[in-house]
Amino acid sequence: ASNRGSQSKRNIYVKAIILGDSGVGKTSLMHQFVQGRFNSQYKATIGADFLKKDIDVGDGRVAVVSCWDTAGQERFQSLGVAFYRGAGLLHANLDNWRDEFLLQVGPRDLENFPFVVVGNKVDIEGKRVVSQKRAMEWCVAKGNIPYFETSAKKAINVDDAFRTVVLNALEQE
Ligand code: GTP
Ligand code: MG
Repeated sequence: ASNRGSQSKRNIYVKAIILGDSGVGKTSLMHQFVQGRFNSQYKATIGADFLKKDIDVGDGRVAVVSCWDTAGQERFQSLGVAFYRGAGLLHANLDNWRDEFLLQVGPRDLENFPFVVVGNKVDIEGKRVVSQKRAMEWCVAKGNIPYFETSAKKAINVDDAFRTVVLNALEQE
């Protein structure tokens, strides 16, 4: 996050990156958050792209959030398919995504880094792949990472998840 003065409300710039396996709904979450839209047709993301949204953080400041959507499929390739094949569970994959991120970014203050974990597609509960209990245990074990169960389709918890990332990022200033 960084500051720049304006007339009445100050803008604060926040970058949010969405990581995860292909098809889990990263692009859909971003579109629901930024544009309030959902598309049921799957089109794999290639490379990375961002959309911006302003969030009023309620203390006279506006967070200008750039949401970076990344390609699940490309990551599969760059890390080698064998690396992920058979992992199957979000639990195992969460470890991989977190480790990969930490390797690339190496945040100074790892303990307070504003991670948020999202379990998406709760509108199709019958197809759940990771129990809420297991996901929450993982989040607790990694230092009480906030956990949200969302639906990009039905707009459940999407704003809350993004807002939490932004507010936690601002706390790190
Ligand atoms: P990559 O770009 O390949 O990494 O995939 P992604 O993670 O961006 O997934 P994407 O948002 O493209 O969604 C994959 C498919 O799941 C699409 O057909 C979406 O419409 C669908 N989808 C995404 N979110 C939800 C959701 O909350 N509920 C349901 N039912 N379907 C969803
Ligand atoms: Mg995508």
